[in-house]
Amino acid sequence: MYRTHTCGELRKNDVGASVTLAGWVQRVRKMGGMTFVDLRDRYGITQIVFNNESDATLNEVANHLGREYVIQITGKVEERQSKNPHMDTGDIEIIADSLKVLNPSEVPPFTIEDNSDGGDDLRMKYRYLDLRRTPVRQNIELRHRMTMEVRRYLDSKGFLEIETPMLVGSTPEGARDFVVPSRMNPGQFYALPQSPQTLKQLLMVSGMDRYFQIVKCFRDEDLRADRQPEFTQIDCEMSFVTQDDVTDTFEGMAKHLFREIRGVELEGDFPKMSWADAMKYYGSDKPDTRFDMKFVELMDVMKGHGFGVFDNAAYIGGINAKGAATYTRKQLDALTEFVKRPQIGAKGLVYARVEEDGNVKSSVDKFYDQAALQKLKEAMNAEPGDLILIMSGDDVMKTRKQLSELRLEMGRQLGLRDKNKFSCLWVVDFPMFEWSEEEGRLMAMHHPFTHPKDEDIPLLDTDPAAVRADAYDMVINGVEVGGGSIRIHDADLQQKMFEILGFTPEKAKEQFGFLMNAFKYGAPPHGGLAYGLDRWVSLFAGLDSIRDCIAFPKNNSGRDVMLDAPAPIDDHQLDELQIKLDLKEK
Ligand code: AMO
Repeated sequence: MYRTHTCGELRKNDVGASVTLAGWVQRVRKMGGMTFVDLRDRYGITQIVFNNESDATLNEVANHLGREYVIQITGKVEERQSKNPHMDTGDIEIIADSLKVLNPSEVPPFTIEDNSDGGDDLRMKYRYLDLRRTPVRQNIELRHRMTMEVRRYLDSKGFLEIETPMLVGSTPEGARDFVVPSRMNPGQFYALPQSPQTLKQLLMVSGMDRYFQIVKCFRDEDLRADRQPEFTQIDCEMSFVTQDDVTDTFEGMAKHLFREIRGVELEGDFPKMSWADAMKYYGSDKPDTRFDMKFVELMDVMKGHGFGVFDNAAYIGGINAKGAATYTRKQLDALTEFVKRPQIGAKGLVYARVEEDGNVKSSVDKFYDQAALQKLKEAMNAEPGDLILIMSGDDVMKTRKQLSELRLEMGRQLGLRDKNKFSCLWVVDFPMFEWSEEEGRLMAMHHPFTHPKDEDIPLLDTDPAAVRADAYDMVINGVEVGGGSIRIHDADLQQKMFEILGFTPEKAKEQFGFLMNAFKYGAPPHGGLAYGLDRWVSLFAGLDSIRDCIAFPKNNSGRDVMLDAPAPIDDHQLDELQIKLDLKEK
């Protein structure tokens, strides 16, 4: 037997027991004639004592143990003289009477402790060692608990877990596909699924009624803190449902997860905010509603005072940073620099402080007299001590997005984005289409299978850009944790949608013939949603990046630095695939 107990298990009431433990050497300390070893496994750390008085040879061997050696010890549990209240096993220690080295270890490239001295790249290269660290392991454990709860909830609601293939054809969902060449079909490629969207719809045609899958999805898109090229969806679809049926079911799942995992009881229904309001008041389709600081449009208030920047603007909006009038010139300059960063791209920022006496002092006092500034104060609902920040631009959406970045930054600076506070909402009524400058045509904002709102269907012929979709996203603390829609189940409407999206009938048939065909054989009304599992876990774990809750993530260039992938393949493999490379110079 390798062990009788784990390293996190023994307590004061085990004193006197003879035990065998196995694990990794976290640390060796010598004190007088004694050697102390911290023995670690997944469950915790137990202190092992080797004592010269009882066995000098054994102590000598223990003295030569290195970090991360895998050892097995037997001994007796004793109560500690100096207890460690920070450790679960801190009341006891094991007086060892035997020691076996199961496997030595080279000196690890970084310390395997809660706070490691290893940089990001090094820890990713040796991710298997990084995973031994408690905070990293805990994220993986949390992920496991969450997937267990997801399965429990969905099973209780009658959902069937059904696997769909990983080698599929390409379906457009806004990102590029990762493709896989087929040796047996030379010159042809599979695509890895960006999501099982069409397949889950086919399962509804099959009468499966309620489907789910915890499934890997692949998207070749630019990476960010909340994006990985392969990530996991909790993908679901339901038949004979309205939008409310779907949102109720998945709000129920969100509440279940909050209750079971975080011990938080979320009261009442999640608010539903239209996309148009989200953009108007927060400049974002995923507003962080943990704090207010809504946008106020200031076109009427600020125009016509001879300040050219505002007079020529298509949009002027302000936020009220309550209590921030104490911001120094240096802090205000830093905010201006913040909005000018290339990622945000604003030209500048106007500020106005409301002083103790109610007077307003602004960075554009030259153009606005006190009466005008008082109007601004009123419009912004500002009080003494408040700081008003104003941005403008010639593109309404772009300027709102810039102001949104400033709002989030101010929320952060004022401590309003507490990771232990949660604010959930649905964003609904997304536009069906958005204009793509790159492609010079309308694109589906969600995907081409999304049902337009019934009342907007007539607009498909006259003003498609104004059509709203039966689509919904769940947003928590400014993170889009999931999204879905009611789908089109009518072959003619689907055909029309493809036309508006610029598909020729031939192209639509080539790419989606299978779906439109299926719709001819009794497709039920259906709809669904996919949650981003990685985003849920990182939200619950309070992580800044989803990478930290993935066992083996990719870095920002999409590389797995541990496996050194992607990498060239053999000429022989290329030959078999009948592929010739024509690499362009970088
Ligand atoms: P969507 O593209 O909105 O919808 O994706 C659903 C959810 O998946 C998560 N997500 C990601 N997480 C990590 N890295 C990524 N690169 C990434 N991309 C998306 C987000 C997002 O809300 N088929 C539809 C769903 C449906 O209509 O049912 C879909 O894939 O949390």
